[in-house]
Amino acid sequence: MQLLFGMRPLDRFLTLGIESSCDDTSIALLEGQRKILSWNISSQTERHAAFGGVVPEYASRMHLEAILPLTREVLANAGVSDPARELDLIAVTRGPGLMGSLLVGVMTAKAFAQAWGVPLIGVNHLEGHIFANVVDHEELDFPFLCMVVSGGHTEIVLARASGDYQMLGATQDDAAGEAFDKVAKVLGLPYPGGPVIDRLAKQGDPKAFHFPAVLPNIEGLNFSFSGLKTAAINQINTLRQKGAEVPVEDFCASFQAAVVRNLITRLEQAVEQTGVKSVAISGGVAANSAFRDAVATHPGWNAFLPSKMFCTDNAVMVAAAGYAAFMRGERSDIGMAADPALDFGEDEVI
Ligand code: KG4
Ligand code: ZN
Repeated sequence: MQLLFGMRPLDRFLTLGIESSCDDTSIALLEGQRKILSWNISSQTERHAAFGGVVPEYASRMHLEAILPLTREVLANAGVSDPARELDLIAVTRGPGLMGSLLVGVMTAKAFAQAWGVPLIGVNHLEGHIFANVVDHEELDFPFLCMVVSGGHTEIVLARASGDYQMLGATQDDAAGEAFDKVAKVLGLPYPGGPVIDRLAKQGDPKAFHFPAVLPNIEGLNFSFSGLKTAAINQINTLRQKGAEVPVEDFCASFQAAVVRNLITRLEQAVEQTGVKSVAISGGVAANSAFRDAVATHPGWNAFLPSKMFCTDNAVMVAAAGYAAFMRGERSDIGMAADPALDFGEDEVI
């Protein structure tokens, strides 16, 4: 049996994961790379819905209220009564994200690490999203492409090896999830709009409305969603000015199809440019049914989709990325700072 520095065997290695970068407080306890012993999430979505989007100050206050009870619950559910003796690592999202929200997780993780004498590792939220696929798919080998597509991110990453990532393209303006949320808001749908559009689109005709061609003037593998969003909002306003009702199901189906077309086009180009045919997706928009279908059924691709509960922000993916980083020999010290604009895919100083 393999032993690391006299610690527990690697398959019994316990990582406590902490995620608080945006509006979800999540805690997870992971054994080894992918065995989930216990996890939970305290979502603030309903509380922010009244404001039509995440209110940063309110988010950090709710993280503060949730984080300790949630940790107690997750540890208790896994039967961990003496964290100082039983935990091997504390992994926490240190960026990118909202500063106030990140601070709650990072300060809590540091306090635990100090009080329990357990090693600490800071995780990049994007690496976390990539590791959602590693948790769910034992058969997923490097290299693979991962599209991280959420409310704050739309990025294509070439994951060459654990810890070796190349950013191939990113959005120049709105993220795909943000475009879903903003168009939904103009349609009068509740926040967050992505899942609502997904649901309504199932009853609609994806060819009913026409949207601009795929990313005409955007360089390389980058994205832009503000043009598509504006085109959608203009069509809604034009209909309303004529006194016509917007056929919401058809509109949602057509808009969703246009977003998915953009995402799939870039993935096709990334596969062509890199020759890598293993394609993973992650982030909130990876829960979208049309996008999942398009990826899963794409000819020639070896597709990996995380289960829907691990698409949106969660601490399981953070624990998994932290475990992998620790096994690569990375360490963070108690001076580690939250970084709302943390870089990814380049050398980072932790
Ligand atoms: O990854 P996530 O939980 O948080 C961020 O890091 O942003 O993603 C949230 C985003 C929101 O914009 C939400 O509307 C979108 O993911 N989303 C979806 C779906 N579920 C969540 N978008 C389209 N279809 C869905 N089913
Ligand atoms: Zn996220």
